[in-house]
Amino acid sequence: MVASSNNVKIVDLASLRRVFEVDLALVMEAYSRVMRSQRLDKPLVVERNTGIVIGGVEVLEALDLLSASKAPALLIGQDQVMIKRLSGEILKVDDLLEEFRLGRNRLPLRNFEIKYLIDIPSIDVPLDHLYGGVRIDRRVLRVYDDTLSLLVENWPTPLVRLKSFSSDYRRVYAKLESFNPFSNSVKDRIGWAMIMDALSRGALGDLLYEATSTNTGIALASIGNALGRRVKLFIPKTIQRVSDVFLKTLGAEVVRVPVSLTVEAIAEVEASARRDGATHLNQFENDANFKVHLKYTARELDQQLRSIGVEPDCIIGGLGTSGHMSAISFYFKSKYGDSVRIVGVQPAQGHVIPGIRRVESGMKWIHMVKFDEIIDVTSDEAIEGVIEVARREGLLIGLSSGAVFKAFRKLSPERGNIVLIFPDNGYKYAEQLEEYFRKREQTK
Ligand SMILES: Cc1ncc(COP(=O)(O)O)c(C=O)c1O
Repeated sequence: MVASSNNVKIVDLASLRRVFEVDLALVMEAYSRVMRSQRLDKPLVVERNTGIVIGGVEVLEALDLLSASKAPALLIGQDQVMIKRLSGEILKVDDLLEEFRLGRNRLPLRNFEIKYLIDIPSIDVPLDHLYGGVRIDRRVLRVYDDTLSLLVENWPTPLVRLKSFSSDYRRVYAKLESFNPFSNSVKDRIGWAMIMDALSRGALGDLLYEATSTNTGIALASIGNALGRRVKLFIPKTIQRVSDVFLKTLGAEVVRVPVSLTVEAIAEVEASARRDGATHLNQFENDANFKVHLKYTARELDQQLRSIGVEPDCIIGGLGTSGHMSAISFYFKSKYGDSVRIVGVQPAQGHVIPGIRRVESGMKWIHMVKFDEIIDVTSDEAIEGVIEVARREGLLIGLSSGAVFKAFRKLSPERGNIVLIFPDNGYKYAEQLEEYFRKREQTK
């Protein structure tokens, strides 16, 4: 801890205890506020003996999502705060801790009324002061302690200029999420985040159930193996057969469900998980999904672009759970306002593109952020996108990436800095590519 004036100290985030849960909307508001002003005007309020954060929980969450490592905190005693349940019952700080331990889940802050018996001072601490020291970079030599480190220590995923689609007026970049180690996709990030979040709350059982279109399943099976957990996955019938082979090799149990979209299997997964006492992480509803993309994917993209002096004019990406593109939209709109255009990509009505789906099929985070446009792409167009990128740039991207590329082609902006988010590579989709070439041969 570093001493500072008026009883406010700068403390390590890791030393603080979180027992309260605040709504994501409040965290997003605090995040926007700090991002805009780049400073903090109030300290967190922390109970001295337990380290429990009583005030500014939403600011703490926002600082965490900004990857800060420290926070200004006012340390108070138990007798300087009154904590009341909405029912009127008065609680001690120790009671909170006990309740949190028993319930395994954080306590919803909205169920409590908190009154301070002292004044909370105003402060003016620049956000810049809340970052830790220099990171020791053994990453340069690519030596890792364990397989899980291959994920987090390899971020950021590469950002590459697509030279053949760029011009004097237009720079096109692709963020290659296939460089994640387990599923070779963007989904490793959420598999890790959902598991770590449940683990931190003591809510991760031995058996994990999830509905997946493959990538989240591979991520969960891999990370589950590293942590000694068993995994059962529910996959729609429309997904390529080879997925079962990968997942079985990883030791996961695979159930094919007679639905077209992964999200349609949720009710069945939830019921089976309840029946079998399994943990259903549920990527469609779990805020750890949105948060990991805000904390890492979006922020690293901004840092990468800034390192080459580029402000993005347009970012294009696919929509599945809407996790990664909603976080990217929220981050970039918070920082750059509407000067950056956010474009979502969905399959055209009646078309199947693994990993993405239509907005009206129901998505959580997309409704909390702003998208400037949603573009429809057919399954054949997505494959044409894959082929064009493969033949011009030598990158074998996946079908949803092909759809993102095709959306870029449809928009065909002549100038500006355009970023395409490519969620995975093409190797899982040999069946769809084969079928496309077979159809083309027949119509010749
Ligand atoms: C290949 C692929 N593309 C795109 C997406 C969509 O990502 P998100 O769920 O973050 O919207 C997914 C998610 O399943 C995916 O597997």
